[in-house]
Amino acid sequence: MNGYKRYLITSALPYANGPIHIGHLAGVYIPSDIYTRYLRMKGMDVVSVCGSDEHGVPITIKARQEGVSPQDIVDKYHSIIKKSFEDFGIAFDIYSRTSSKVHHEHSAEFFKHLYDKGEFIEKTTEQYYDSEVNQFLADRYITGTCPHCSNDSAYGDQCEKCGTSLNATDLINPKSTLSGAVPALKPTKHWFLPLDKYQGFLEKWILEDHKEWKVNVYGQCKSWLDHGLQPRAVSRDLDWGVPVPVEGAEGKVLYVWFDAPIGYISATKELTPDWEKYWKDPETRMIHFIGKDNIVFHCIVFPSMLKAEGSYILPENVPANEFLNLEGDKISTSRNWAVWLHEYLEEFPDKQDVLRYTLTANMPETKDNDFTWKDFQTRNNSELVAILGNFVNRALVLTHKYFDGKIPALGELTDYDKETLVELPKLKAGIEKNLEVFRFRDALREAMNVARLGNKYLADTEPWKLFKSEPERVATILNISLQICANIAILAEPFLPFTSDKLSQMLNVESLGWENGGKADLLPVGHQIGKAELLFEKIEDEVVEKQLAKLQATKAANEAKVIKVVEPQKDTITYDDFMRMDIRISTVLAAEVVPKTQKLLKLEIDTGIDKRTIVSGIAEYFKPEEVVGRQVCVLVNLEPRKIRGIVSHGMILMAKNSDGSLRFVQPNEAVDSGSGVS
Ligand code: MF3
Ligand code: ZN
Repeated sequence: MNGYKRYLITSALPYANGPIHIGHLAGVYIPSDIYTRYLRMKGMDVVSVCGSDEHGVPITIKARQEGVSPQDIVDKYHSIIKKSFEDFGIAFDIYSRTSSKVHHEHSAEFFKHLYDKGEFIEKTTEQYYDSEVNQFLADRYITGTCPHCSNDSAYGDQCEKCGTSLNATDLINPKSTLSGAVPALKPTKHWFLPLDKYQGFLEKWILEDHKEWKVNVYGQCKSWLDHGLQPRAVSRDLDWGVPVPVEGAEGKVLYVWFDAPIGYISATKELTPDWEKYWKDPETRMIHFIGKDNIVFHCIVFPSMLKAEGSYILPENVPANEFLNLEGDKISTSRNWAVWLHEYLEEFPDKQDVLRYTLTANMPETKDNDFTWKDFQTRNNSELVAILGNFVNRALVLTHKYFDGKIPALGELTDYDKETLVELPKLKAGIEKNLEVFRFRDALREAMNVARLGNKYLADTEPWKLFKSEPERVATILNISLQICANIAILAEPFLPFTSDKLSQMLNVESLGWENGGKADLLPVGHQIGKAELLFEKIEDEVVEKQLAKLQATKAANEAKVIKVVEPQKDTITYDDFMRMDIRISTVLAAEVVPKTQKLLKLEIDTGIDKRTIVSGIAEYFKPEEVVGRQVCVLVNLEPRKIRGIVSHGMILMAKNSDGSLRFVQPNEAVDSGSGVS
């Protein structure tokens, strides 16, 4: 920690197109909050910034789907997200947003500065244009057939069926999702940041000078660098975002990944007139907290932007986490497979720390990890309730019972007392050591070990059995126990801020600084403590079963959705077109499989008008004997067609189920053959 005067902590700006869930919390905001609280408690000069990322195509798509403006969408989610952070005690110094005036100005200025310095390449490329709505189409606005797997609803940036990432021009039969029109390629000018120019600098800065970065982060950077960097477009044809501030750039905005990280700077600028100290003084240590999908932007693209600008510092570390899964499945907004923070709080209004604890204990630090409700319950019942809560409660209740709630005097210490107290500074050092290298799970375990220490101490010394015979010994035991409680209030604060607050109140102390952690004389003899209340309560089986049932219902709803693929309506026809179709109820007289085929049945049909032959592709679903004698609907005036050498005269109407299987369309009661259907 030496050599730095101040800290700047950034946390990935969440997209304002949906609320946030436990995955966001575990991956980014809890680690960032623990780290920030720890630094603050140590009395460091630290600023923690975040805000909503309010630009980008997905927000415009959502707005279009809901028939509102993009501003409406971001206003709505910005307040939901901001409130969730507040509710969970994520203590940013500022939670701003990228639609703010300061941000628009600052990011435009940043671009202009690079532009004037000649840091961009100007290139004209061909992009799809929808002439019905008069706009260039972002990749997500184009669908078509995937050239790899023939999925006919692949997007212009990716095929979600086979996972291949695509260019819009790779799609076969591209279509605009805005109008359905076939888009045409049209030239458009954009600005590119030549990342290749920074290759050498990045190789040295990351691969040589930052070998201490987490393996997952270092590895991803290395792989990008090994592949060789390419120029990246920093502008888009879109009408939502920060307008490109140069002449001839009408209808173009900064690419969302260009302006969003500048949002960290704008937020700092909004927070303090001293912002430059945090961004430009090499004695500031900047840390980016992010999820793994953001690594390239924070380790390669943004540093190149900052380097190109020239006056900014670079991040000292980027401790990105992997992903959190939920009950074994990937968290997904579109499948509603998530625990949303605002919903959690409705069910568990005062259990923020239980979630913080569970998510920290399972933090996906080095690999993807799983959140399960069962584990949530176990962590609460066997750790928070049985160890931490139980210890604190016993210490306080006994002090009220024997000493009227006043800290009793310390007598002579036994060896065991001394051995116990000696552990406190060691545990504190263990927490620090782990936090300094972003190992939050281990740090939490050490913090919890303080409670374990106290719990064991009380269980071993059993003061409740001694009061009659040795009241002075009991006084010593409780004094020590209460000093351990005070240590918990300090050392658990970064992880469990609500609990720490409540505990401080119960001990009747102002929050104590980190430097007091490890000490055994925090509560003076005679100090009056407050009322003992429970810090945690047991979570019953029904409660988690209810949450599991809710997820089960989501799963069922999703499965129903997947099967129901409904074909879109075909082009309009006239009434006359309809009347020209002659459909008759007919009876199947005989049936046989067409030789050397698997799908075709040759049917002899009585149409009421005549007897004729029809070849029908239903053999996979029906055996010949199943169809003989059936009444069916036949389009009788379809022009005859030769199939496998057999003249087929008409079409049997079938309903195709969503799973592709076929059903006959037939009258629900017998009707004379030859009856017309209209
Ligand atoms: N909105 C992005 C995401 O959720 C993160 C943006 S981080 C910033 O993945 F650096 F761009 F701000
Ligand atoms: Zn595909």
